[in-house]
Amino acid sequence: MAFNLLKGKKGLIFGALNDKSIAWKVAEKAYEEGAEIVLTNAPFALRLGDTEQLAKACNTEVIPADATSVEDIENLIDKTLEIFGGKFDFILHSIGMSPNVRKGITYDNLNYDYFLKTLDVSALSFHKILQVSRKKDALNDWGSVLALSYVAAQRTLYGYNDMADAKSLLESIARSFGYIYGREKKIRVNTISQSPTPTTAGSGIMGLEGLMDFSNRMSPLGNATAEECADYCVTMFSDLTKKITMQNIFHDGGFSSMGMSRRAMDVYSKNLDECCEFRDIDFKDITHKFEEF
Ligand SMILES: NC(=O)c1ccc[n+]([C@@H]2O[C@H](COP(=O)([O-])OP(=O)(O)OC[C@H]3O[C@@H](n4cnc5c(N)ncnc54)[C@H](O)[C@@H]3O)[C@@H](O)[C@H]2O)c1
Repeated sequence: MAFNLLKGKKGLIFGALNDKSIAWKVAEKAYEEGAEIVLTNAPFALRLGDTEQLAKACNTEVIPADATSVEDIENLIDKTLEIFGGKFDFILHSIGMSPNVRKGITYDNLNYDYFLKTLDVSALSFHKILQVSRKKDALNDWGSVLALSYVAAQRTLYGYNDMADAKSLLESIARSFGYIYGREKKIRVNTISQSPTPTTAGSGIMGLEGLMDFSNRMSPLGNATAEECADYCVTMFSDLTKKITMQNIFHDGGFSSMGMSRRAMDVYSKNLDECCEFRDIDFKDITHKFEEF
C-alpha cells in the first residue's frame, strides 16, 4: 500500500544491480511512493546487471558512474540536475565491495592494495558523493542522504573481514558530514544498519547462510528483509523524519541489542556435549546447590 510519502520528491539511487539488491527495492518503493528517481551504477555493473530493466519500470534513466571517481560523480550530479531540471531531495548510497572478501583472503593476511580498494569503494565513495553534491549545491534544504551499513562496524562478526573497517568509516563519515550539511542546509545524513540479506554482495560474506540463521534466531522480530529495509529508507527520505541526523540506525529485528536468545540456545545446545569447554564442571551439582540456596 502506498502513502504518497515521497510525492514531489526527487532522488538519486546508487547500487541497484539486480532484483535482489536492496537499492532495487528502494527504487521500486520510492517510485511507488511518488518520487522521481535517477539510477546509477558502476559501468561494469551496468554490463552485468539488470539496472536498465529497473529504469524502464520506474520511468527513468541510468547514468553510469564509478563511485570511486570524483570525475564520474561530478558528471553524474550534473546530469541528474539536468534530468530533474534543478535540485533534488535524497540520495541512497547502497555500495559495497571488498576484493579481500572476494578472493577469500582472511583479515590476518590482508592485501593492502585490496584493503584500500575496499575502503574506497565501500566508504570513501560516500564522502565523495556528499562532497560533490555539496560543492554543486545539488540538494534541497531538508534533504536526506542515506548509506547502508552492518553491525560489524561495532561488533566483531566472524568472516566480515575488512568490510567491518569500511562500515565503521562509513558510519563516521555520516556523522562528520552530517554536522556540516545539517548546520548549513538542514540536510540529514544517516546510515541504516541492516540485517544480513541474500544479495550479490551479501553472498560474498563467508558463511552467509549460517549467519542469516543465527541472526534470525537471535532477533526477537527476525531478520529484516530487503523490502522492509526499503520501507525504512523511504520513511527516512520523507518529511516524517526531518530531525534525525548523524545516526546509525539499526534495522535488524533487535539483533544488535541481544546477547543470547532461547531460539539460538536451542540450536547451540544440540551439540554442546561434543564441544563444551566446561565438561569438567558438574552443572547438575551447581544447579542443585543453587536451588537449595
Ligand atoms: N546483503 C547484506 O547482508 C547487507 C547487510 C547490511 C548492509 N548491506 C549493504 O547494503 C549495500 C547494498 O548491498 P546489497 O546487499 O544490496 O548487494 P548488491 O550486490 O546488490 O549491491 C552492491 C552494489 O554496489 C555496487 N558497486 C560496487 N562497486 C561500485 C563502484 N565502484 N561504483 C559504484 N557502485 C559500485 C554494485 O554494482 C552493486 O550494485 C552495501 O553497502 C552493503 O554492504 C548489505
